[in-house]
Amino acid sequence: MQSLLFSALCLKLFWILSCWAQSWTTDGVYYGMLGSNVTLACGTSPQRSPVEWRLNQSSMLPWHHVTAEGSLVLFNVNQSAQGNYSCHDDQGAAHNTVSLMLGYLPGTLNVSCRVPSHKHVRCSWVRPIHTFLPAQYHASYKGGGPEWKPCVVDSANRHCDIYQPNFWQPAHLLNITEANPLGATPTYKKLKLHELLKPDPPEELVVMGQSYFPTRLRVSWRYPLSWPKHHAFPLLFQIRYRPNGSTHWAQIESMETTVVVLDALEGHPHQVQVRAQDEANADSQWSDWSPLLLARPWEGNNYVVPDVSEGTLPSEVFPDDQFSTGTFTSKTQTEEEEKLSLVILLVLFSIVIFIIILSLTVVMCMRQRRRHVTKQEVSSMLKMKAIPL
Ligand SMILES: *[C@@H]1O[C@H](CO)[C@@H](O)[C@H](O)[C@H]1NC(C)=O
Ligand SMILES: *[C@@H]1O[C@H](CO)[C@@H](O)[C@H](O)[C@H]1NC(C)=O
Ligand SMILES: *[C@@H]1O[C@H](CO)[C@@H](O)[C@H](O)[C@H]1NC(C)=O
Ligand SMILES: *[C@@H]1O[C@H](CO)[C@@H](O)[C@H](O)[C@H]1NC(C)=O
Ligand SMILES: *[C@@H]1O[C@H](CO)[C@@H](O)[C@H](O)[C@H]1NC(C)=O
Ligand SMILES: *[C@@H]1O[C@H](CO)[C@@H](O)[C@H](O)[C@H]1NC(C)=O
Ligand SMILES: *[C@@H]1O[C@H](CO)[C@@H](O)[C@H](O)[C@H]1NC(C)=O
Repeated sequence: MQSLLFSALCLKLFWILSCWAQSWTTDGVYYGMLGSNVTLACGTSPQRSPVEWRLNQSSMLPWHHVTAEGSLVLFNVNQSAQGNYSCHDDQGAAHNTVSLMLGYLPGTLNVSCRVPSHKHVRCSWVRPIHTFLPAQYHASYKGGGPEWKPCVVDSANRHCDIYQPNFWQPAHLLNITEANPLGATPTYKKLKLHELLKPDPPEELVVMGQSYFPTRLRVSWRYPLSWPKHHAFPLLFQIRYRPNGSTHWAQIESMETTVVVLDALEGHPHQVQVRAQDEANADSQWSDWSPLLLARPWEGNNYVVPDVSEGTLPSEVFPDDQFSTGTFTSKTQTEEEEKLSLVILLVLFSIVIFIIILSLTVVMCMRQRRRHVTKQEVSSMLKMKAIPL
């Protein structure tokens, strides 16, 4: 009973000591902590005869001490103490070789999470300290229940992805653990997904002037690709614009993906941007603004503005895709229309001429024939008179 207790105590002591030394060996590699004292044993059994230690085949060693058992103690090690250590007996034969690699225990990570849609969470982290050692990451999360689910880790890019999280849960707990040969350190982070929700900026922003409207700008964009397409989660958009150089923004909100700005400053280029927010969730965040776009309203001073008093708006006459940047296109088009009507007029005119000529000819012919007939009648009458009764 006592010996059992004793061996248990020994085990405990050994465990504390080995932990305290903060190092372990794998495949002839010995990992140690920078700034600590590192002890390397010469073989498994203690050496009786004096031994010689070498680093990279040279007998130049950093600050050290060789114990009576032949172990090498390196004091307060720094990076330059790394290398291949070998211990040799007095004949020069090598007993043992270990590669010493030095670094630090992982620190608590600085974790930040992005929630670009209801279906995806991406958490990335930066390491507060450089450990100099290869790291492995393990990440998991849980909602209200006891069950941990994986956050899929990309070690190289230091981030992990959660797909289809339970959005209705008020909070989630994330556990990201970094492990290296010296030990593992977990980092916990509480996530409130509905507050973190921040869409990506709207995409494919297009701003165009509108023919015949020198104060209008037509702004259109698309839902961010990362946002689920179906309309269960519509986005609310904010559009802001200002004349280039002005400090004051004007703003419009819309649920559509196209708006027409009606009060642009005539003849000035305008800066335009759009951003988005989950419409149903006021706790969520606005996306970043889309990149600035510069566009000019329509300018057509040298062109006659058509009469709009009769109720037909030119925007109905000229469909959307003929909007100018575009003054040129619409001009050439009217020129073409004019040509076409000229041709039609010419054709009509020649048809009329043709009909007139034709009818004239017909009339002439008929007259000629009638004259011919009367001549015949007269001559036959004369003949009849000549016949003796
Ligand atoms: C390393 O050993 C030296 C000398 O024995 C001692 O003064 C120092 O406190 C030790 N350092 C650590 C980190 O244990
Ligand atoms: C240290 O040993 C490893 C193999 O254990 C070897 O690949 C490496 O070249 C050695 N480095 C030096 C400086 O001897
Ligand atoms: C590393 O430690 C050695 C003593 O072991 C010292 O001579 C050397 O200057 C130190 N190097 C650095 C970069 O601190
Ligand atoms: C020993 O070799 C390692 C590479 O294996 C190198 O990083 C280290 O600086 C070398 N140390 C000395 C003291 O030459
Ligand atoms: C954590 O990272 C964020 C950005 O990723 C940075 O703004 C912040 O200062 C960092 N905090 C610490 C303690 O490093
Ligand atoms: C966090 O993750 C690490 C690594 O998987 C694990 O060892 C640790 O127990 C986890 N923490 C909790 C509280 O589950
Ligand atoms: C917009 O304004 C900036 C300065 O505020 C100027 O450098 C730039 O040339 C302007 N762009 C246009 C198209 O007027």
